[in-house]
Amino acid sequence: MTQTFGELDHPARLLMGPGPINVHPRVLRAMSVQLLGQFDPEFTGYMNETMALYRQVFQTQNRWTFLIDGTSRAAIEAALVSTLAPGDDVVVVNAGRFGLLLSEIAERCDARVTLVDGEWGTVVDPQAVEDAVKRVRPRLVACVHGDTSTTMAQPIEAIGGICRRYDALLYVDATATIGGMSVPVDAWQADIVTGGLQKCLGGPSGSGPITISDRAAEHIFGRRHVEKGLATGGTVGNGRRIASNYFDLAMIMDYWSDKRLNHHTEAASMLFAARECARVVLEEGLEVRFARHAQAGAAVVAGVEAMGLQVYGDQAHKMTNVTAVLAPAGVDYDRVKARMRTEFEIEIGAAFGPLAGKVWRIGAMGVNARKHAVLQTLAALEAVLRWEGFGAPAGAGVDAAAKVFA
Ligand SMILES: Cc1ncc(COP(=O)(O)O)c(C=O)c1O
Repeated sequence: MTQTFGELDHPARLLMGPGPINVHPRVLRAMSVQLLGQFDPEFTGYMNETMALYRQVFQTQNRWTFLIDGTSRAAIEAALVSTLAPGDDVVVVNAGRFGLLLSEIAERCDARVTLVDGEWGTVVDPQAVEDAVKRVRPRLVACVHGDTSTTMAQPIEAIGGICRRYDALLYVDATATIGGMSVPVDAWQADIVTGGLQKCLGGPSGSGPITISDRAAEHIFGRRHVEKGLATGGTVGNGRRIASNYFDLAMIMDYWSDKRLNHHTEAASMLFAARECARVVLEEGLEVRFARHAQAGAAVVAGVEAMGLQVYGDQAHKMTNVTAVLAPAGVDYDRVKARMRTEFEIEIGAAFGPLAGKVWRIGAMGVNARKHAVLQTLAALEAVLRWEGFGAPAGAGVDAAAKVFA
């Protein structure tokens, strides 16, 4: 029997978790634009514009700044599989789920992983990173900027300097901060930095912006092996072939260069989305946007604290755009989250690993890093908590947050 199901017709939900978030209307419109062939000069022009836009978003001069088709983790995987060969040493800075993700992907590359661990809810001491780098002399140091699992933002500046001193490449996962907190790639001296659209950039997931320094590109091109059906001789590198075809950055860079050497079929609608996200960000201005995210995050913190709740983790290193709130004793963790949705059409985030069942994660990002979204979320949370038996003082959360916006 043929089944067709209904047209997509869900309620307009306010997405206040750690991502995805509601997409900017301009980005939705860009995604509905008709496709072009991937070698159409109009389309390759859009590709070049996208490169120029993301250089500004990443605050870099890197020529190699483009998109990986796939979610943020696709860009992470492309970065790691293209730099690491079996037996290479990598130091992973880890204080959360996404630090562990970097180590897992590096292990799948058969690299030798040295973890420099911090406790969840803290960041890692750069001195510990330096000690490990001095001892191991890795090819790569891999680090998460904002780890949404703990809401901590690792200071990167010091790590960039360490990597240059010991001639290691520095990879940074900025999925959760790009477009909301400053990601100054060149000032950090980072070699490869990746992002995602679905958080502060205000788009859907499915495209991973990436930027690559010349010295990292040189290493990657040293492993260039052009796909068999495309090779015309002369372009095969002598390094070990990159273990993934799809995530082979040497081939993807050839595709994004003037050579336009065919690789995948560029995901045109996602490119349109990524291009529009960057246009929206840059039209607002990076500094204004960072300040808007910081203000919305501060309002969330003020609001939940005024309700009598506790914010999780080291506040000195908290990401501005996501807040983890400890669930008070006596309330049903899952039911609070569910009632936010069923009664108010608001999504807040649950947590992973050691924090599962302990904190809710509230994001204020992109179009939702604004007063109305924060106040609605706090008002709803207060009501749900009171229904669940927690005595949040009436109106205190909204009042405290409103003051931050005043
Ligand atoms: C810091 C960080 N890195 C990586 C990812 C993975 O992103 P994606 O789900 O788009 O693959 C996320 C997603 O939440 C994240 O927060």
